[in-house]
Amino acid sequence: MKSYLSYLECTYCHQTYDAEIPQRLCNDCGKVLYSRYDIDNAKKNFSIGDLSGRAPNMWRYFEMLPVLNVANVVTLGEGFTPIFDAPRLGGRLGYRVLNIKDEGLNPTASFKARGLSAAVSKAKELGIKKLTMPSAGNAAGAMSSYAAKAGLEAHIFMPKDAPDSNKIEVDITGGNLTLIDGLISDAGIISREKAAQMDLFDVSTLQEPYRVEGKKTMGYEIAEQLDWDLPDVIIYPTGGGTGIVGMWKAFQEMEDLGWISNKRPKMFAVQSENCAPIVRAFELDQEFADPWENAKTLASGIRVPSAIGDYLILNSLRESEGGAITVSDEEILAMMRVVGSLEGLFLCPEGAATAVAAQHLLQSGILSEDEKVLLLNTGTGLKYLDMIK
Ligand SMILES: Cc1ncc(COP(=O)(O)O)c(C=O)c1O
Ligand SMILES: [Zn+2]
Repeated sequence: MKSYLSYLECTYCHQTYDAEIPQRLCNDCGKVLYSRYDIDNAKKNFSIGDLSGRAPNMWRYFEMLPVLNVANVVTLGEGFTPIFDAPRLGGRLGYRVLNIKDEGLNPTASFKARGLSAAVSKAKELGIKKLTMPSAGNAAGAMSSYAAKAGLEAHIFMPKDAPDSNKIEVDITGGNLTLIDGLISDAGIISREKAAQMDLFDVSTLQEPYRVEGKKTMGYEIAEQLDWDLPDVIIYPTGGGTGIVGMWKAFQEMEDLGWISNKRPKMFAVQSENCAPIVRAFELDQEFADPWENAKTLASGIRVPSAIGDYLILNSLRESEGGAITVSDEEILAMMRVVGSLEGLFLCPEGAATAVAAQHLLQSGILSEDEKVLLLNTGTGLKYLDMIK
């Protein structure tokens, strides 16, 4: 198998960069870099038919992933999570077709495994030995686990009130954990300082080009698992936004490969009413989102007051004719019980937020009962036992 990774490109000013040496953000404008692939050759040599018989994990899309040598792939079996029909929940909410992609079945029990599998693999390939990262919680456990598997050093900065499971997971998997009094944005400042002092490579989300490449595989899988016909609507719990922009990138790549048509789902970002920078910017028609003050929600993964990829998230929402919506913690907790009792799925609070959003979007007439809706459950509720009483 051969990766068709070609170069890196700034998503804002389009400056290009060499993908064979470590890169973080654009040197000219400070914005996010994306991996670009040699689509012409990929198209000739990589087809849907090649996927049959490949292992059911995200590396089945190796040609469109950034690791050049397959020996550098650090895997714990991430990806190819099931998409469940949720007819009882669909009936309750009022949709004819409702599906849930269950990312809680990933290693480390959240979709963060995908991004960190890709980023740690690429770091290993580039000869990087020590990693650092701020995390709202789930990314920390994933980074620590994949770094352990790769034999790399992991330094993690996490809010002290993140779920216990996230802290214990880092401890058990041998990461260096620093708990901080503040939010992920404060942890990011410390992580950057430590990176400079201790020669660590900072893998903050979207501040290096490869975590998003792992997360984009959710988009490839959704297409493959739904027989190359994307749903009408995707609802996604948005923090740093890497998942939503990753899926959006995947759809374009698959269209360029000739795998799917130009039909796109409407993309909806869900945030907490007490931490909604993207929703506010969407409503105000802004290109970038102002940081949210006093962010607070039990859905710790979306307790992200500012996102470096804000313009990418907002673009995907607008181009797809989707939108952005807030939900409350009370609604999330109530919905966890509804989904648990109707579908047997113990969603994480962030995942339950997407079901609440689906309900509001139908009630307000923004979506209709005939639209095929896919919810992303980004992790398992079992990681939040201390938050759910
Ligand atoms: C369970 C869960 N859902 C959603 C998110 C938000 O992810 P993204 O950065 O892709 O927006 C996170 C991030 O920590 C998370 O842990
Ligand atoms: Zn740039």
